[in-house]
Amino acid sequence: MIAAISLTKRYGETTAVRDLSFDVQPGVVTGFLGPNGSGKSTTMRMIMGLDLPTAGSVLVNGKSVRDLRWPLREVGALLDAKAFHPARSGRNHLRWLALTNDIPLRRVDEVLDIVGLTSAASKRAGKYSLGMSQRLGIAAAMLGDPGVLLFDEPVNGLDPEGIRWVRHFLRDRAAEGRTVFVSSHLITEMSLTAQHLVVIGRGSLIAETSVTDFVARSRGLAVRLVTPEPGAFTKTLTGSGATVAVDDDGSLNVEGLTAAQIGDLATRDRLTVHELTPMVASLEDAFMELTQDAVEYRSSTMAVSTSGGQR
Ligand SMILES: Nc1ncnc2c1ncn2[C@@H]1O[C@H](COP(=O)(O)OP(=O)(O)OP(=O)(O)O)[C@@H](O)[C@H]1O
Ligand SMILES: [Mg+2]
Repeated sequence: MIAAISLTKRYGETTAVRDLSFDVQPGVVTGFLGPNGSGKSTTMRMIMGLDLPTAGSVLVNGKSVRDLRWPLREVGALLDAKAFHPARSGRNHLRWLALTNDIPLRRVDEVLDIVGLTSAASKRAGKYSLGMSQRLGIAAAMLGDPGVLLFDEPVNGLDPEGIRWVRHFLRDRAAEGRTVFVSSHLITEMSLTAQHLVVIGRGSLIAETSVTDFVARSRGLAVRLVTPEPGAFTKTLTGSGATVAVDDDGSLNVEGLTAAQIGDLATRDRLTVHELTPMVASLEDAFMELTQDAVEYRSSTMAVSTSGGQR
């Protein structure tokens, strides 16, 4: 497991991570969510011992990573998909990592197989597509068969097939009992991958919550209903305490009832339903609402913000 205790990192004037405390438990995928520049990568580098905290500490399995004798065997990370020598083949990159960490070389072919890179293993890694580079980074993270895994934005730039593969990969590793911590700025993607969430903004903790709670809260916001009987349906819905608005396309936007409750009311009052859709887009709204005071770089204030004048 991972335990961050009052973790703080300052770069000159900038406080990238501020008094951040959270736990990441084994057995579930924990999403690390925050807008751009909120301190996710900085936190992950500190977990891996690649950056020193200004204050506070972070422990992996009860120890600082710097005190682990063979760190790769306890914690594996994909922090930068292009962190390899471009002229080296994928297999040689992993062999070099294995040799320097006293990991048996047969493990190299095992992890190549796990990530589906066996057929491309002798190609120069510099020629890999982004998806293949991500897979090589994931193979490197798995090399020491560690119980703790970190991934910084692993689906960035991947196509839908690649995204699905990473999603299942993360879930399977968690199901094996590993601790899996994965960062993203995309709430919708995280809601499909993670079971637990650590949400940060401007380096501070905003929420630690289960995805089920987060989704339930935000999904409950609105349901889209298409019906040939909008008048009668609206009467039924408002009679059950819902708020109903008519969208531009004639569909009803229902707040205050779940899709299941609306379906039950349709059966009770013999009303026809053509479409009933929980508004997943409101997940983004919930995330924006949660982090709106904490967005580091708003496009309109980018120039001010990057010059340091905003903080
Ligand atoms: N090496 C560094 N030197 C100076 N400032 C840094 C350094 N690394 C990060 N920062 C600053 O710390 C803050 C947090 O950056 P970080 O990269 O951790 O955010 P992030 O959540 O990973 O963002 P993104 O979603 O864009 O990847 C930013 O303001 C960034 O400019
Ligand atoms: Mg980052």
